[in-house]
Amino acid sequence: MDNRYIAEVKNGIYWVGSVDWNLRDFHGFTTPRGASYNAFLIKGSEPILVDTVKRPFTGELLAKAAAVTDLKNIRHLIINHIEPDHSGAFPEVIRHLPNCRIYASEIGKIGLHRYYDFERDIQVVRSGETLALGDRTVRFVETPMAHWPDSMVTWMPDEKVLFSSDIFGQFLATSERFDDESDPPFLDAAVYYANIVFPFNREVIATLDLVKQLKLNPEYVLPDHGILWKKHIAGIMDRYRSWATGACAEGVLILYDTMWGSTEIMAGSIHDSLVRRGVTVRKLRIRSSSLSDIMREVLFSRVVLIGTPTINNTVFPAVGQVLIYMQGLDPGPGRLWGAFGSYGWGGGGVEYVSRWLRQNRYEVIHAPVESQFTPNKALLAACDEYAEAVAGKIANMKQ
Ligand code: FEO
Repeated sequence: MDNRYIAEVKNGIYWVGSVDWNLRDFHGFTTPRGASYNAFLIKGSEPILVDTVKRPFTGELLAKAAAVTDLKNIRHLIINHIEPDHSGAFPEVIRHLPNCRIYASEIGKIGLHRYYDFERDIQVVRSGETLALGDRTVRFVETPMAHWPDSMVTWMPDEKVLFSSDIFGQFLATSERFDDESDPPFLDAAVYYANIVFPFNREVIATLDLVKQLKLNPEYVLPDHGILWKKHIAGIMDRYRSWATGACAEGVLILYDTMWGSTEIMAGSIHDSLVRRGVTVRKLRIRSSSLSDIMREVLFSRVVLIGTPTINNTVFPAVGQVLIYMQGLDPGPGRLWGAFGSYGWGGGGVEYVSRWLRQNRYEVIHAPVESQFTPNKALLAACDEYAEAVAGKIANMKQ
């Protein structure tokens, strides 16, 4: 007997995914709490598989699906998103499902054929299209760029179940499957949002509006990663809106690194001056933090001040790495930015950060403050003035 864990969501809809307990890096994204790849098998007169899993978990998916129904009975395979953490098992899965029809968005179809070598045809589905698959009905909603061009979600109107693909996911390995079995993983969802979804704020708002407009009112929202939502659906949707609009952002994040301590002294001085003025501040030394955690802090901050030393007339490499990582995630709009830092014989680090801000058209809150060697009294006074100006602008923003 196969005693693998298979969770029933409701009315013959089963979770047949995998938990990746030991994943610590997802294409550069630190995953200290592991991950899961959720796939779902819907029993009925014509069983439906929704999404697959990462390739190393192919055997587990097939064994779980076979425990629910004979694989030859599976008549439909819906691919909501082609990124390999969900489609890696696809080529092997379709070899075991000879009688299934495959559905994807138009771009999903192209992508699957580019990723994998297979002959089977794929039926392209479009937004609003409703299909009766045996005694089950599904409706497709394309969500391009939330978060890939191929992305779509699948809605089951009779069961009120939304298969939301990557949207509302979290990188989290747990033995629990549902959000009423432990504390809801809002913070994990925020880390995921900040590192995966951040560039697509507009698309997220459009998707949330669409869910409202279509009056979907799901009883279950089933993302392809992490905990499945049933009790806290309004909570996660409200948070997504707040993350996408920047309503969640408050206070100042001081993001810095240091070479011989000068930039760290400045970071501390700016921190203390802001706190004295009643501003909420978080201070992170870059090399002590993962990129994933840095992005979570950026998500929740209204102002980001970036401090760098100068090495070989340019930015400190650890700071430069953060700038490159942030460039694609584009957290700039809706936030205010600043630069500060230090140098020895020749400058360049602060200018690099300032140029990066200009090139990205990020709104700068105040001209940078810069120290040669260790900050002296005059420089610390300049840090205090810098903090005063930042605090003043934050106070004005609140009015
Ligand atoms: Fe979880 Fe975009 O893949």
